Amino acid sequence: MKILMVCLGNICRSPLAEGILRSKLDSKYSIDSAGTGGWHIGVAPDKRSVAVANKHGIDISNLRARIFQINDFEEFDLIFVMDESNFKDVSALALNEIHQNKIKMILGTSQNVPDPYWGTEEDFEAVYQLLDQATDDLIQQFLQS
Ligand code: 4NP
Repeated sequence: MKILMVCLGNICRSPLAEGILRSKLDSKYSIDSAGTGGWHIGVAPDKRSVAVANKHGIDISNLRARIFQINDFEEFDLIFVMDESNFKDVSALALNEIHQNKIKMILGTSQNVPDPYWGTEEDFEAVYQLLDQATDDLIQQFLQS
């Protein structure tokens, strides 16, 4: 089972989501993240995401940002996006209904993980808490059968 986390820059929310989910699953699950925008390709996660992950015992410092590619629809079974803008951007690249059906809002319909990029350390902690809960929920909903 392969799962992709997607946000805008792939430096704040989706690397955190990737690290948190990986920490909860065994190695038969393959987890990755990507951004819909290409400004940060090849760079490490935002230091505030690295710090909040560290605080909770998760190391995401080795991750590197990449852009979402159409091939990801073939590569991954499930694609979790952080907000409605990501949903729109990724949906625009879907070539068929199979692709479209793989795209899920990580908090559920109409609920956004707020972009903490222009925010404070507290905003990053709030994103961590949202993603910690969301990953528990998605394991229940999508990965247990
Ligand atoms: P992310 O946050 O989508 O959670 O990685 C952002 C990071 C960078 C930018 C926007 C959002 N940016 O505009 O550079």
